[in-house]
Amino acid sequence: MSKTIIAANRLPVKIVNDTGEFKLHTSEGGLATGLGSIYKSKDNVWIGWPGLEVEGEEQQQKITEELREQNLLPVFLDKDEITRFYEGFSNEVLWPVFHYYASTYAHYEQQNWECYKEVNQKFCDQILKIAQPGDMVWVHDYQLLLLPKMIRDAQRDISIGFFLHIPFPSHEMFRLIPWRKQLLEGMLGADLIGFHTFDDVRHFLSSVTRVLALQTSANVITNNRRVVVAESFPMGIDDKKYASLATDAAVKKEVAAICKTFNRQKLILSIDRLDYSKGILQRLRAFEQLLISHPELLTHITFYMIVVPSRDQVAQYKELRDQIDKKVGNINARYRTLEWSPIQYFYRSFPIETLSALYSAADVCLVTPMRDGMNLVSKEYVASRVNNDGVLILSEMAGASKELIDAIIVNPNNEYEVSEAMFVALNMPLAEQKRRMTLMRNNVGKFNIGHWVKIFKERLDEVKQMQRSLL
Ligand code: UDP
Ligand code: G6P
Repeated sequence: MSKTIIAANRLPVKIVNDTGEFKLHTSEGGLATGLGSIYKSKDNVWIGWPGLEVEGEEQQQKITEELREQNLLPVFLDKDEITRFYEGFSNEVLWPVFHYYASTYAHYEQQNWECYKEVNQKFCDQILKIAQPGDMVWVHDYQLLLLPKMIRDAQRDISIGFFLHIPFPSHEMFRLIPWRKQLLEGMLGADLIGFHTFDDVRHFLSSVTRVLALQTSANVITNNRRVVVAESFPMGIDDKKYASLATDAAVKKEVAAICKTFNRQKLILSIDRLDYSKGILQRLRAFEQLLISHPELLTHITFYMIVVPSRDQVAQYKELRDQIDKKVGNINARYRTLEWSPIQYFYRSFPIETLSALYSAADVCLVTPMRDGMNLVSKEYVASRVNNDGVLILSEMAGASKELIDAIIVNPNNEYEVSEAMFVALNMPLAEQKRRMTLMRNNVGKFNIGHWVKIFKERLDEVKQMQRSLL
């Protein structure tokens, strides 16, 4: 029987070194829960990095066995690979360029590129050990752009899907990368290439025609007489899980405790990984502007800001952390009273039950990335609002803004606009909140994660059939 192999840089669990002992924790992020329904069933497998350097074959073997019971297959990265493949190429070339930060943050180093190729090959070797004719391999995200072609070159009889979870930039950005040609060729090894939005598809096709001079017609690319399809599949979330968490007794207790702590204050919530693409500093400036423009709000609102540590060995991330610490410190020092602080800032991750309680307790959710492929936090907030109230402020630069059109949509570069959006949100009549939230909840419920997986897989089958009919 054929199986599905998921390949993503990260496994849905990560190893944490708990004073010399390795323990497994859930990885942050929507992909893990999203694809949970697939990799856990039958012979399916998820291949990826467990998130930590593990030295010694014996230790690696022990971890491999433990993971095998959960249908997970690890690809171990050594220190040099973590530095060059993960930090150096994935997060200092691809991440900044794809999020339009090429001129500020990208470092092009030949050695890191060589290592990127080697690690993609390492993933390929693992896949080839278990892939059989008729299987489907679903490759995820920017860390593995070369993998589809590597698999195709070695094994022709499998369906290969690729999904990019971050934006695909305009050709004017993408062309800056010295290895642009090889990256596109790598992606084109897939039969179906998925993106979150139609604009990403458009940008990808434009790079394919300009960089590789290939023929495209609508969203079909002809590559060496093989047909490849590029299409948008906006990723959804497990909406029912968030709705049921919101009514869970333990979560409700947490909500009550939060509401008691903040008494009658209104809560504005934001949750992101620490990343320059998330617009955290700009958001803090917009919040300060709100306090300046509307001093009557002082002591009546709290900005609850969760920032999850991420890629903390990369220089720009370290720098950003210091800048955020400083900005939060400045605002709190300037406006606080003995009993009240304008910002409650947390630099750590939280269990899903606490996130759920915060989604339920927050009057406003503020999601203002400078660029974001999709942004699942915005959808999780909507799914958690089982009473249909609450207000979402959403950046037009997030993929989710194409679907959640009933949010207050803002340009995150316009700090004055964002601050006024907060004011409008805090004062929005309940009937208007409910009108908007009901529409957004319908969308999040209909186009959920199950739907996303189903339509991607069905489309991949159709593409394979189309290829066969053209042979
Ligand atoms: N998240 C988490 N732990 C936390 C905070 C957030 O697991 O402490 C999750 C959050 O629920 C969401 C994901 O991390 O599912 C973030 O996804 P998003 O698309 O918003 O941004 P990304 O981090 O993928 O850029
Ligand atoms: C984004 C990327 C994922 C990545 C996640 C966490 O969602 O699209 O590919 O896994 O961030 O980042 P990290 O570098 O910790 O894996």
